[in-house]
Amino acid sequence: MTDTRRDEELLAVRDLVVNYGPIRAVSGVSIGVHRGETVVLCGANGAGKSTTIKAIMGSVPASSGSVHLDGQPITTVSAALRARRGIRLSPEGRQVFATMTVEENIRIGAHQLKATDRNTRVEELFDTFPLLAERRRSRAGDLSGGQQQIVAMGRAMASRPRLLLLDEPFLGLAPIWIASVSDAIRTVQAAGTALLISEQMARPALELADRGYVLKHGSIARRGTADEVRSMALAEEYV
Ligand SMILES: Nc1ncnc2c1ncn2[C@@H]1O[C@H](COP(=O)(O)OP(=O)(O)OP(=O)(O)O)[C@@H](O)[C@H]1O
Ligand SMILES: [Mg+2]
Repeated sequence: MTDTRRDEELLAVRDLVVNYGPIRAVSGVSIGVHRGETVVLCGANGAGKSTTIKAIMGSVPASSGSVHLDGQPITTVSAALRARRGIRLSPEGRQVFATMTVEENIRIGAHQLKATDRNTRVEELFDTFPLLAERRRSRAGDLSGGQQQIVAMGRAMASRPRLLLLDEPFLGLAPIWIASVSDAIRTVQAAGTALLISEQMARPALELADRGYVLKHGSIARRGTADEVRSMALAEEYV
């Protein structure tokens, strides 16, 4: 029974511990994401959301515990190889290449595709996210925070990942841009991509999610359906 469930999971994080020197940032986190599912990881400032996401991407090492993708262990696999195997990250603070154009940012995201496939994929992304097409020749650094978030998502989606990690995609955005980023996330969902979204203010993310986890001081304090997590988070002021 347990093994079957794990087989069904696209991502399975088990008992993850991450230390930064003497600081324990994540202590014993277990999270699952099924194929095509959207899962929210909410929690206050410093709860360990980014550290968990980075350990899934492979940009910080797990001190103990495991990460499986499609039932295969990837705990010690490099971030570059994890990207090839279908995990991509849109990082906290967007981190677009500010002096490059929107199109150059997207092309960087597509670098792991075969050269013959790259142009097709870039045009597909321009069809999927019209804002990217409108601003394709703009310097990414000249765009608003919401526009940059869509660039960061387009860049991450360029290689057709199976699991997209979004670290605080709504952070600091005006309501109109929260709506645009939500629409962009719905487009990703419609393509069948699974999502793990971290958020401090979880309301907009929970609108899009199937399930959620509440992270507190590096541990999972609560888990449940999006509705359950919304009411828990409301009580604890995460939304
Ligand atoms: N590079 C680092 N070196 C040392 N400690 C770190 C480092 N990065 C994060 N931490 C600490 O680890 C804990 C978890 O941080 P993390 O960035 O994962 O939290 P978060 O939930 O993403 O917070 P935020 O909402 O502010 O983004 C915090 O106590 C933080 O100070
Ligand atoms: Mg963070």
